[in-house]
Amino acid sequence: MSKRIAVVTGGIGGLGTAICTALARAGRSVIATDLDGDAARIADFERNVDGLDVGFRALDVSDHAACAAFVTDVEREHGALDILVNGAGITRDVTLRKMDQRQWQQVIDVNLGGVFNMCQPAIEGMSARGFGRVVNISSVNGQTGQFGQANYSAAKAGMHGFTMAMAREGARKGVTVNSVSPGYCETALVMAMPQQVRDDIVSKVPVGRLGQPEEIARAVEFLTADEAGFITGANLPVNGGLFISF
Ligand code: CAA
Repeated sequence: MSKRIAVVTGGIGGLGTAICTALARAGRSVIATDLDGDAARIADFERNVDGLDVGFRALDVSDHAACAAFVTDVEREHGALDILVNGAGITRDVTLRKMDQRQWQQVIDVNLGGVFNMCQPAIEGMSARGFGRVVNISSVNGQTGQFGQANYSAAKAGMHGFTMAMAREGARKGVTVNSVSPGYCETALVMAMPQQVRDDIVSKVPVGRLGQPEEIARAVEFLTADEAGFITGANLPVNGGLFISF
């Protein structure tokens, strides 16, 4: 069988790089997408995945037409798009009283709109080929809500509703759809938080530390395996015990 083709949006970010690496090491052919803006970041990514079957394509996931064209291109060039990991995400942390409409809309458009924009064109081919694995990278803050993140928490919680609905639509076609909800990990996003706020959060994590991106990638690799066909509509929290529920 030919290699499964995987697309990872937000692929050159902290979690994204680890996810691309894990999927490539598991025998997938990986295409990372991200904004085109930062040449140094892209060069850094290319160094990190050197020697692995990982390519890069610029894509703004908030652009509906660009996502549809991208999926068509991937299917034409590679014959399929088997695995889709929606990892693209941004924060605009600010209390609700100070949040402007733009800060709300940007986060909704990228974090939630991006999932719609990628999944809608991807589900067509996955259904026709009878195989698909979709993993939406949500957040513990979509489950608990977070001070200063009304926009981000709403988008990340919305991803769970989307995941469950799409899981039902894909189930008879061999397409599984799950979310992974990371806790606080050692990524640029988290390291950019005020240190006092971060230290305060880490002190509440039962395992007593930030997560490593590779620990999130492990969950994604698990859910995207061919053998994971009976797991769908689920959310896999990877948060060091910060939010424990069933
Ligand atoms: N809970 C309750 N009250 C809080 C609070 C909290 N967590 N944090 C601040 N406050 C209070 C302050 O004590 C202060 O009270 P007073 O007005 O009575 O003095 C008030 O709220 C401060 O309000 P401000 O609007 O002035 O807030 P600020 O400018 O100081 O900071 C913030 C706001 C930037 C949002 C800051 O709280 C913050 O950075 N919070 C963390 C947000 C966060 O967790 N982001 C995660 C980023 S990483 C990520 O998102 C990845 C992932 O998925 C896990």
